[in-house]
Amino acid sequence: MKFRGTHILSADQFSRDDLKHIFHIADQIAPYAQRKKITTVLHGAILSNMFYEPSTRTRISFGCAFNLLGGYVRETATPEQSSVAKGESLYDTARVLSGYSDIIVLRHPEAGSAETFSAASRVPVINGGDGDNEHPSQALLDLYTIYKEFHKKEKNGAASIDGLRIALVGDLKYGRAVHSLCRLLALGRNIKVNLISPHHLALPQKIEDILTAAGHEVNRNHNMVSGITHVDIIYASRIQSERMLPSEANQFNTDMTDDLYRKTYHLNKAIYTQHCEPNTVIMHPLPRDSRSGLDVLDDDLNEHPNLAIFRQTDNGTIIRMCLFALIFNVVDQIDTYTYLPAWKNLRKSNV
Ligand code: NCD
Repeated sequence: MKFRGTHILSADQFSRDDLKHIFHIADQIAPYAQRKKITTVLHGAILSNMFYEPSTRTRISFGCAFNLLGGYVRETATPEQSSVAKGESLYDTARVLSGYSDIIVLRHPEAGSAETFSAASRVPVINGGDGDNEHPSQALLDLYTIYKEFHKKEKNGAASIDGLRIALVGDLKYGRAVHSLCRLLALGRNIKVNLISPHHLALPQKIEDILTAAGHEVNRNHNMVSGITHVDIIYASRIQSERMLPSEANQFNTDMTDDLYRKTYHLNKAIYTQHCEPNTVIMHPLPRDSRSGLDVLDDDLNEHPNLAIFRQTDNGTIIRMCLFALIFNVVDQIDTYTYLPAWKNLRKSNV
């Protein structure tokens, strides 16, 4: 695809070659994300980072990614302090903000909002999550993480997800990160996908159809243990209670009373050790819901070497830097605008 000046709205926009291209650039950009080198290639450019839904990782890492390329960031993280609280339309907000900035990242509770917004914007828009629909940059960083984890274990080589076996666990109905990831998985070959969720939070049929149309093997499991036993990746995700319809919220409350999530959809060290292959990598887009027993992924796996969740978040900055560099068409100039920092990053490695 042509990246220059393009809106990034859906994971559907990418081809196999695009992924290869992005991940190749990611390896080149990683030293900048790690502060080994500094570039000012986007000096003078302004990002409007507009978040109308809660966010920690996506908002901060998009902002850091832009800063790390030398650009400036303006942001809103509180809808109640911006004009949407006065009833301003996406159209008007997009027209106005695109006069102030060179690129916009939008997170918004309505599915389809990023597309509506981009149609009115005069500058490129990146979808930072639109309701239960899509989260394309998350899917890219997830896939990049999968590549890297495989490379590390010398299983599939660095540039392929062909033959991957993956279990998607949790809220597959409302999890937009899962929806976008499935669209990228469809670009692989011969993938086995185990879908593990309560009945009422199953993956929407239209997304399952994308996987089957790509020739992948798709299994629906309501029993977590059988679905995670022979896979390379377990991709756990949060139950998105904030998106549920009233009837689903009732079901959710009943499930909570019955302790369903902790009994049935909860991965901890004991279950992992007993049932998973030794190389199975654990991923999660985060946040984990740390209220007792709610999340699919227990924190007793925090120090496990196969837990890739914090490598995922680190990769988020790298992938978002790639997207900006591609959209502004400055990939070839990054190194020209480089200098070595006078200071040393004091961060410990994330292994
Ligand atoms: C996800 C999201 O917002 O869709 N978080 C993220 O961006 N990393 C997942 C979630 O909220 O559960």
